[in-house]
Amino acid sequence: MSRYFKAEIQENRPVHTVHNLLTLNVPVSMPEPRPGQFFMIEANKGTDPLLKRAFSLFRKTGQGVQILYRVRGKGTAILKEMKKGTLLEVLGPLGTCYPLPPADAVPLVIAGGIGIASVFSFVEQFSRRAIVFYGARTKDDLLMLDELQGFAKEVRVSTDDGSAGTKGTAADSLRHFLSHHASPITHHCIYACGPHLLLKAVSEIAGAHKIPSYVSMEEHMACGIGACLGCVVKTRDGYARVCKEGPVFEAREIVW
Ligand SMILES: Cc1cc2nc3c(=O)[nH]c(=O)nc-3n(C[C@H](O)[C@H](O)[C@H](O)COP(=O)(O)OP(=O)(O)OC[C@H]3O[C@@H](n4cnc5c(N)ncnc54)[C@H](O)[C@@H]3O)c2cc1C
Ligand code: FES
Repeated sequence: MSRYFKAEIQENRPVHTVHNLLTLNVPVSMPEPRPGQFFMIEANKGTDPLLKRAFSLFRKTGQGVQILYRVRGKGTAILKEMKKGTLLEVLGPLGTCYPLPPADAVPLVIAGGIGIASVFSFVEQFSRRAIVFYGARTKDDLLMLDELQGFAKEVRVSTDDGSAGTKGTAADSLRHFLSHHASPITHHCIYACGPHLLLKAVSEIAGAHKIPSYVSMEEHMACGIGACLGCVVKTRDGYARVCKEGPVFEAREIVW
């Protein structure tokens, strides 16, 4: 099955000032994407920028896939202006997915900022079983919160400025939860996506509580298929390519 295809934009609408939701019609022959995987998407019809951009699977819809993206630089600014009907070159689904927790474990899911895009469909598949620690800079940066609350067991919100939820990071919120929680912590499994510093903190917390944990790493990508070595991270077994051996890694594998 080919992972290279052209996809038609079905919808590309703002969900907030700097965030958009892109819905692509994909061929039926595309392999089924799983939460944690990503796509390389053409960001321009011309040559600048030349390289495709990496985006997590946000959600699978009937005939397509959705991508939730933050406008960051040139590529995403161009993508934001693309209209319904435009054909985009896409590569995917790529990379590893979030492994399922044991049947009796409670998934603790940590999302920092646009990291919510990667974990959203993972939380959705557990129907009121996962506890989500969702951190953002301010209350205006919390995306898709109502939907998330509709299928998570609980959503613990935190913001850097205290404008919604508790003041602090999602890692602070996780630390507080684990140190005040009554039921055996061994019944948990941690999953995280967000800025590097958040992932490092989550990894340390998970290690201290001896809870299995998985992180989705984000590195700049060029090829997305393991050929250019542009996306490597240091692991205990040497260097690993985020696009091929990741993006989801066991947190203890990473040399932070
Ligand atoms: C596996 C993976 C999944 C991703 N999923 C999503 C997603 O679901 N939604 C989303 O909004 N973004 C996601 N990203 C990040 C996204 O790829 C970048 O925001 C995008 O490439 C920026 O392109 P640009 O041309 O707009 O910005 P550029 O002009 O290329 O860069 C603008 C600024 O963003 C920084 N930047 C660019 N790429 C990255 C990156 N990968 N990590 C950290 N900083 C970066 C640059 O250093 C620069 O400061 C993901 C990245 C990876 C590797
Ligand atoms: S982006 Fe080329 S090896 Fe990962």
